[in-house]
Amino acid sequence: MDRADVNLPSFELPLPAEQFLQQYWQKKPLLMRAAASGLAHPDPDTLAGLALEDCVESRLMTGAGGGPWNVQSGPFTEQDFSALPKQNWTLLVQSVDHFMTEVSLLLDSFSFLPGWRMEDIMLSYAVKGGSVGPHYDRYDVFLIQARGKRHWQLGPHCDDNSPRLPHDELRLLDGMPVEDEFVVEPGDVLYLPPGVGHWGVAEDDDCITWSVGFRAPAPADLLARLADEAIERSDQSLFTDVGRAPCSAPELLGDADLANLRQQALELIDRDVLREALSALLSEPRQPAGLDFEVDCGHIAAASEDTVMVRHGAARLLIDTLGNAWINGEKRPLGEAQRPLATLLARQRSYTETELQPLLNDDSEQLMEEWIDAGYFTVIE
Ligand code: SIN
Ligand code: CO
Repeated sequence: MDRADVNLPSFELPLPAEQFLQQYWQKKPLLMRAAASGLAHPDPDTLAGLALEDCVESRLMTGAGGGPWNVQSGPFTEQDFSALPKQNWTLLVQSVDHFMTEVSLLLDSFSFLPGWRMEDIMLSYAVKGGSVGPHYDRYDVFLIQARGKRHWQLGPHCDDNSPRLPHDELRLLDGMPVEDEFVVEPGDVLYLPPGVGHWGVAEDDDCITWSVGFRAPAPADLLARLADEAIERSDQSLFTDVGRAPCSAPELLGDADLANLRQQALELIDRDVLREALSALLSEPRQPAGLDFEVDCGHIAAASEDTVMVRHGAARLLIDTLGNAWINGEKRPLGEAQRPLATLLARQRSYTETELQPLLNDDSEQLMEEWIDAGYFTVIE
């Protein structure tokens, strides 16, 4: 195997993070040539193998130009793949980082954003002419070309009112105006903010694109979790209106009363509720099943001699404002002596002896063993 084939995936912003965040993040697209490397693994066969698994979310999309477009959901069989036409199809495999830890290590390159904001890495494999059609996504995405070439067309900001092709499920744009177009090669990275129309068509067979997608929780879902937590902790106290003025319109549920009712309801969402409810929610992985997948230690060891331990790709770890750890939705209170180690484990996904050694003591070793036993971390032999 060529040395270049065993590098771990990585990405480097070609401009200062402050500048990227101020000028581009959530605002406008940015094409970054040759900004990523170490993307040879997984190869097309390994990716197709994942799409045979029950617990992996995958889709096969066929179509080109003006359509017709068709999408099928996985899991697929070997026969499904052998029945495909020569051109114009794409296989999409969601959350590959959850199932292949070596893929998840790319996320460490995005540490200019908080870990809770990351969602997953989707990989697509396309033959010549394959694409998912013109569309927009509702979250930020970095589209990283891993193999082959892809021709991108970018459109304007779109929303629910943008014209659509008549496939409800696919939400494809009808007649997307092209504002920019270019061809990307392996290592090129295209950042797209939410809502920007885009259409990427494979120029040749064996086109693999990685999509690093970001988590953007719907405020309504946050409120639902906050309400659940607040109700659970509520002492059942009742509405109060001491010092009320005489009422001149007894038929009215007026603004002042509404404001008072709202305030008393919202007071239940105190800092404890906020921290507990949202730490649990935001430390939940996109899919829970991945810890069953074995970490490819051989690949990681070949790519990085210094790495002695990795976080499993399906493990999400956050530290809250009181210094507790939250791992895959579960709270793990930490002792003082455990915090420095837990902070390192939450900050990045792969670890060297030099990083770990100074943080080890009896208490922190116990924590590390607990998390290794649970499958959240794996020692690289
Ligand atoms: C792809 O990887 O084929 C497309 C990803 C996207 O357009 O969001
Ligand atoms: Co997209």
